Amino acid sequence: MCGIVGYVGKKPVVETVLEALGRLEYRGYDSAGLAVLNARGLAVRKRPGKLSVLADAVKREPIRSGHLGIGHTRWATHGEPSEINAHPHTDCSGSLAVVHNGIVENYAELKTRLLAKGHRFRSKTDTEVIAHLVEEHAKRLPLDRAFRQALKELRGSYAVCLVSAKEPHRLFGARNSSPLIIGVGKGEAFVASDVPAILDHTRRIIYLNDREAVELSAAGPKLFTLEGRPIRRSPTTVAWTVSAARKEGFPHFMLKEIHEQPSAIEQTLANRLDPARGRLVFDRRTKRFLDTLDATEKLVIIACGTAYHAGLVGEYMLEEVARLPVDVDLASEFRYRGPQLDRRTTVLAITQSGETADTLAGIQMAKAHGARTMAICNVMGSSIAREVDAVLYTHAGPEIAVASTKAYTSQVTALALLTLYLAKHFRRIPLAQWRRLLDGLEALPRLMRQALTSEAAAKATAAKYAGARNFYYLGRRYNFPSALEGALKLKEICPVIHAEGYAAGEMKHGPISLIRKGWPVVFVAPQSPVYEKVVSNIEEVRARHGSCIVIASEGDAHITRYADSLITIPKTDEFFSPILAAAPLQLFAYYVADANGADIDQPPNLAKSVTVE
Ligand code: F6R
Repeated sequence: MCGIVGYVGKKPVVETVLEALGRLEYRGYDSAGLAVLNARGLAVRKRPGKLSVLADAVKREPIRSGHLGIGHTRWATHGEPSEINAHPHTDCSGSLAVVHNGIVENYAELKTRLLAKGHRFRSKTDTEVIAHLVEEHAKRLPLDRAFRQALKELRGSYAVCLVSAKEPHRLFGARNSSPLIIGVGKGEAFVASDVPAILDHTRRIIYLNDREAVELSAAGPKLFTLEGRPIRRSPTTVAWTVSAARKEGFPHFMLKEIHEQPSAIEQTLANRLDPARGRLVFDRRTKRFLDTLDATEKLVIIACGTAYHAGLVGEYMLEEVARLPVDVDLASEFRYRGPQLDRRTTVLAITQSGETADTLAGIQMAKAHGARTMAICNVMGSSIAREVDAVLYTHAGPEIAVASTKAYTSQVTALALLTLYLAKHFRRIPLAQWRRLLDGLEALPRLMRQALTSEAAAKATAAKYAGARNFYYLGRRYNFPSALEGALKLKEICPVIHAEGYAAGEMKHGPISLIRKGWPVVFVAPQSPVYEKVVSNIEEVRARHGSCIVIASEGDAHITRYADSLITIPKTDEFFSPILAAAPLQLFAYYVADANGADIDQPPNLAKSVTVE
């Protein structure tokens, strides 16, 4: 997820682009850049780090003002955060510049073709192919057609903006599966990743649809299909405040991020799932690392908080399906426990930020003992990502809310990918099961979208129990970690509530003593080999007059007679059920907290990234 901006008009271009980028910095902040067309041609500035670093650089080395410019704030997906990988990217001539948000899935193939034609690449990004591909087509086509022709050859997602010294009065944009809006002002026009970037200038917005392109001049925008057919669309006027618009109309970032999960999962799977050829694909370094994992005697997963819960799901997956011996440890315990580590051990860190102090220290300790190390991480170029031998990035985009939601489900998705790859590579899975699970993986974004339709039921259930002050969460096997995660979500965002997650089988070893009339117990009970056992645990709670909130598989008629409140998720293999169960658990926690007036995005005493012990 990155932020992009384009401007055509009479205002000072550099300042206008930088200010708009400032409003998009939440979409990415590992590097930033801009390109301006002025009387001398194309001027480009880019810097690694936050936008302020770019702004300082532009102050030190001013750009002669122009009338047209594009800008970018980056969240790295391909290529480490660095000056060379920062956008804009230029073609061989240096007179054409591109900014891009999304992932070009066939970039390697396109790059090989362009290299053979003599194009010289500078960066490690997927984006740079767009600049060279347009340059290539522009040898025989006018720029507008060359741009559209290049887009037709891209697979994957893009919101893209292009300027060229050959067309000094027009700016080109297009989108497919990544957002791009157009702002229409008086004698000026904008494109941006989202509305808040330009609200200070105009509220008249045109929403671009997938596979549509725009040509922007001071006279206004012209829209086209990628085939070049003109599109007529009038602007709508938005009434949002800047802060509401950053959340795209959602009242909190947490809710927005919950709803981003289908696309976050899609991004985790992008480029890695090749169902046509029945295989999973990883970059060379990761593949080399994974292919030699059979030399490992033990895999130790270390993580904190929500990421630790993802690790617990991973333990079920990797042990049962890939038949690898796995230990999962809280990083804060692992680093002080004196674990037995050597080169036959592989330590896998799971972390959204890549900066959690205990997880980082755990990895450093593992390395010092000669263990091999790997990470599942969201933030490219973060400390942990730089420390380990191999990284599987989740590509979930920046997570702003303190409570982790999309990072969690994309971590579990990455663990599913890892499990299936290893199971197949080491021939530890029957073919029929492999095919079934591969299909399940491909269906995940769609099923997650469906799971989110549980919102109304989760909200209604939350209204019913919002006054309770204690909750239990219970589950078994793959959904024992779901119970822990559901309880953590509720207690972290709603500080007036205590919630505890347990393995359902543990209930009668202690916690059951507290159950009394109306005590709410959330059961995660999708179809699984232990379904009947969970139903018995529900009976035990009912016998003590507790209230059972049950998350079950769609179409489970049997469960209705046991549940005081029922929320359903799509039917899936148990292997994937923790990913789908996360949606109603997050939504339930969100609406209980909301009904209690909690500060959902920034709960007291918590920080997004715990970089101290
Ligand atoms: C809970 C939450 C935290 C983090 C934990 C690890 O919603 O966000 O428990 O999961 O602090 O953070 P990362 O994944 O950045 O290492």
